[in-house]
Amino acid sequence: MSILQSLADRDRVFDFLIPRESPVDVRHGPILYLEDVSVSFDGFKAINALDLTIDDGELRCIIGPNGAGKTTMMDIITGKTRPDRGQVWFGSRHNLLTLNEPEIATLGIGRKFQKPTVFEALSVFENLELAMSADKRVLSTLTARLDGEARDRIDEVLSLIGLEAARRRPAGILSHGQKQWLEIGMLLMQRPRLLLVDEPVAGMTEQEMERTGELLTSLAGKQSVVVVEHDMGFVRSIARKVTVLHQGSVLAEGSMDQVASDPRVVEVYLGEEA
Ligand SMILES: Nc1ncnc2c1ncn2[C@@H]1O[C@H](COP(=O)(O)OP(=O)(O)OP(=O)(O)O)[C@@H](O)[C@H]1O
Ligand SMILES: [Mg+2]
Repeated sequence: MSILQSLADRDRVFDFLIPRESPVDVRHGPILYLEDVSVSFDGFKAINALDLTIDDGELRCIIGPNGAGKTTMMDIITGKTRPDRGQVWFGSRHNLLTLNEPEIATLGIGRKFQKPTVFEALSVFENLELAMSADKRVLSTLTARLDGEARDRIDEVLSLIGLEAARRRPAGILSHGQKQWLEIGMLLMQRPRLLLVDEPVAGMTEQEMERTGELLTSLAGKQSVVVVEHDMGFVRSIARKVTVLHQGSVLAEGSMDQVASDPRVVEVYLGEEA
């Protein structure tokens, strides 16, 4: 695929990743609320009467064995999959089940897939610039002042993701971990209210994992972050509240120590990495 083609594709993606404003109302409750959500694929209940509440600014870890429904849950939140029943609310104002994928992204829900999709031929800085300039409204009203703001935002994100020194480097020569951070940075350019991150440390070195943990914990508070991850050492290092999914439902919820000592959790993880 040519770079131009991939830019055009990326542009389409970013078209709906842009929060014009963040009208999400969290004054009366959580930022994300799922109630009694179910979805079946060919009769198999991937998500089964799932209830989940994420508070504004929270960092939540979601764990669970393969096939527990973790990714499907993210698909439902982002509008990729429609549940058969239940409610999904973003703040108290937005019923996500009435919105499509672009509309949900525009409200400020950013999603990080496992595979990084940065533009290898472009510099780190240009990747971040692109993530921002895909906002057609900004492009069409581009002023010197906005330009300055954009640069400030890029500097801010570069510092958050720890890639200041690599800003001029082509993204293609970054390590796997650095590419993952850059992609998180590209999402952050859109100032999401909620970030969904699926298996961020797969394939990372210990050092990269540690740095990723610092990054995700530093984001919490400013935005809400939901992290799905299999690496238990990593989860333990960043965990506040942990939710264990099993067969499409919440099996246990609490601190890492609480859930890890829960006999039902131990049971479903027998033979697994926990
Ligand atoms: N679009 C789909 N069509 C059919 N079955 C699906 C679809 N999406 C998910 N499933 C099934 O739903 C179940 C839950 O899958 P899901 O990917 O959500 O699990 P997961 O918890 O993310 O697992 P893993 O830890 O392996 O990533 C699995 O049995 C999967 O095969
Ligand atoms: Mg998954």
